[in-house]
This record gives sequence, structure tokens and C-alpha cells, in this order.
Amino acid sequence: MSSLHKYFLICGSLFLFNLSQFVLYKTLFFTHSSHSAPKNKPVHLLVVSSWRSGSSFIGQIFNHHNDVFYLFEPGHPVWMKFQNESSELLHFPLRDLLRSLFTCDVSPLYQYLPKGGKIVSELSFFAETQALCTPPACSAFMPTEGYDRLKCQLCCMNTSLDQMGETCKTYSHVVMKTVRILDLSILLPLFRDPALDLRILHLVRDPRAVAFSRQSFDLTTDDRIVLKNEGNENITISRAMEKICKSQVDINRVAKASEVLQGRYMAIRNEDLSNEPLKNVKKIYNFAGLHLTKDLEQWVYNITHKEVSDENGFMTFSRDSSKVAQKWRTAMNFHFVEQIQQNCIGAMNLFGYKPAKSQIEQNNLTLDLVNKEWSLE
Ligand SMILES: *[C@@H]1O[C@H](CO)[C@@H](O)[C@H](O)[C@H]1NC(C)=O
Ligand SMILES: *[C@@H]1O[C@H](CO)[C@@H](O)[C@H](O)[C@H]1NC(C)=O
Ligand SMILES: *[C@@H]1O[C@H](CO)[C@@H](O)[C@H](O)[C@H]1NC(C)=O
Repeated sequence: MSSLHKYFLICGSLFLFNLSQFVLYKTLFFTHSSHSAPKNKPVHLLVVSSWRSGSSFIGQIFNHHNDVFYLFEPGHPVWMKFQNESSELLHFPLRDLLRSLFTCDVSPLYQYLPKGGKIVSELSFFAETQALCTPPACSAFMPTEGYDRLKCQLCCMNTSLDQMGETCKTYSHVVMKTVRILDLSILLPLFRDPALDLRILHLVRDPRAVAFSRQSFDLTTDDRIVLKNEGNENITISRAMEKICKSQVDINRVAKASEVLQGRYMAIRNEDLSNEPLKNVKKIYNFAGLHLTKDLEQWVYNITHKEVSDENGFMTFSRDSSKVAQKWRTAMNFHFVEQIQQNCIGAMNLFGYKPAKSQIEQNNLTLDLVNKEWSLE
């Protein structure tokens, strides 16, 4: 049986289930419902990062928590709608979209999505939101069933955006991740907004590892937008990295200088998360006001240690996450490394990454190029 056929049967069988077992379903759902409805004002958390820095992974750490309504790259439709504009200009519609979505108002998406924002499948990454793949948003799943992206994509695609908004309101935490904020000062008004309780989790990664990862990932469309104000010619990895590195330094500078961000900003390095996943997940959850359950602890261990990834869909996680972080050391051309080190010297100093002075230093894995003593506090 083809997998599509199988899923058709699964969605189909649940159609019967919907009609005949509605009462039972209700009972099951309410007894098994594990996410706590917001008692106070919901917590809003934005993961700010850059491309190929591990923000999808951090996003999943939030997405798997039952109290979290998570959205993956809500700015993507804005950038796709205005591909000829600059990241500087697009900050403003993005900021307003983030504000709306944090308060569970989906209406801006009617304008940004290609088909008028009727159903969730117009959001390219809707299945990255567990809350849209489980009851009450999607009745294709039994409340006790786990999170299955593939099945979600096929069976939960017709959920309306209005239902998405209603679902969002039942969660105590709304978390989004974006690589499209290059200037944190744009978001300052949101910290003064009485409807929001906003926190920023800033994820950084060794620029050399980012550049290495970018070599096998086409980001031309995004880089054109990033570099628009610098001239549209010669879109190269090292030019994009130069601007992105400066923006990461700048984000940290704004966070430190702004009164409203005190206690609301946390920086974390991808390498620390890879080396000590559990310890850092605890820190992140603590910052977000989330409780780490035994089940989540086991899940974090599984996804960072297992040989076989149990995550279907396109988000695959590193099997042995600390080894992956070092791959650039042996696989990357030293001249390119030097170029990135030059373009990103400010970010490397600030975030505790030591330059390799030669090919030999780069390849010598016993020499640690990530400063272990680093801390922003
Ligand atoms: C979603 O709606 C389309 C169009 O009405 C329909 O063809 C499709 O079977 C529906 N899918 C599911 C899973 O309900
Ligand atoms: C683009 O690259 C070419 C060849 O390297 C160079 O001659 C040209 O000046 C560059 N243009 C810009 C705008 O940097
Ligand atoms: C972790 O992996 C074990 C062994 O494969 C599995 O039994 C368990 O269900 C997994 N736990 C979670 C929470 O993913």
C-alpha cells in the first residue's frame, strides 16, 4: 500500500469516527487534554536567529511542549510577497504581523497568503505547529495519538485560519521563530505594548559553521532581500555573512542598551545547546516559564543521541549533535574560513569564537575554537 493510500484511509476512517464517536471523542479529549489554558496574560517568546543556525531545532523544543502554540517563520509569507524589497523595509510589516500573531489575530495572513488565507495549508510550514496537528484544531487525530507531521500535512490541511486563531487562544505560551529580524530596535514598541509579555531568545552560531552549511543550501532569494540596500549584484555567502554577523552583534547591543529588555533577553549559542542539550533546554524553558516534563526530557535525549531520527517530515535533527557542530573544521576550505573570519570578526569576538590562524589549526580538532568560558552576563 502506498503511503498516500494509507494516509487516505487514516483520514477517511477518522471521518467515520467523527460522525459516530463524537461524544466519546469529546470525553477523551477533555480527560486527556494536557495543555493548561492561559490563566494570566499569555507569555510571548520570539526566537531571533539567522539562517542555518539551528533555530528550527530550538523551535521544535518549544513546539513539543503542550503549553506552547508555536509558529515556524511567520515572516516567510511577507518576504515571499515582497521579494524586491529590502530586509530593512520588510521589518515593519513583519513586526506588525508578529504582534498580531502573538495575540492570536490571524487576519494579516489573509493578505499575505497566496490564496487569501482560507486554510492552514497555505502556510508552507503549518505542520511544524504541533497545535495545528492535534485536537481541537485537527480532529484527524485521536487526542492520545502522538504528533505525526506527514499525517498532519495530509489530514489537517483544511483547518481554517479562523480555527487556527481560536486554537492559539487556548495556549498559555505563544512562541515564534524568525531569521528575518536583523535589527532588534524595530521590536522595541512591542515591549511597551500592554497586550504583550514578550521575551527574546537570541540564538547564535559559529559564523564559519553557518557559512559551511550555507554552501549546500540555496538562500539566494533571502540573501537578495538581505543585501538589497547594499546593492543587488554579487550575492555571495561571504557578503551575506558580513551583514548577518553585524546584525547579530547589533541585536545584542540593542538588548543590552534597552531598559525594556532587561530580564527579557537571553542569548544562547548553538554549540552549547549541542554539547549540553538538556542543561540548556532547562535554561531555555526556565526563561520562557515552561515546565520540563520527564517525557520531554526523554524526547530531547532521543533526538540528540539516537541513530535513527523518529521525526518524519523535513526537520531532521542531528543524530549526534556535538559532532555535527564540528564538521566545518575538516570539510571547509581555509581561504573561505579566513574570509568569513574577517567579515565576522566582531561577532566572533562577542560570541566567543576563536579564529583559526592556519589550515593546520582549523583541522586540529583537539584545539577548541569555541571559547568554553564564554558568557554574556
Ligand atoms: C480538503 O479540501 C479539498 C477541497 O475541498 C478536498 O479535495 C480534500 O479532500 C480535503 N482534504 C481533507 C484531508 O479533508
Ligand atoms: C561584482 O563582482 C565583480 C567581479 O568580481 C566585480 O568586478 C564587481 O565590481 C562587483 N560588483 C559589486 C557591486 O560589488
Ligand atoms: C525515546 O526512545 C525510546 C527508545 O526508542 C522510545 O521507547 C521512547 O518512546 C522515546 N521517547 C520519546 C519521548 O520520544
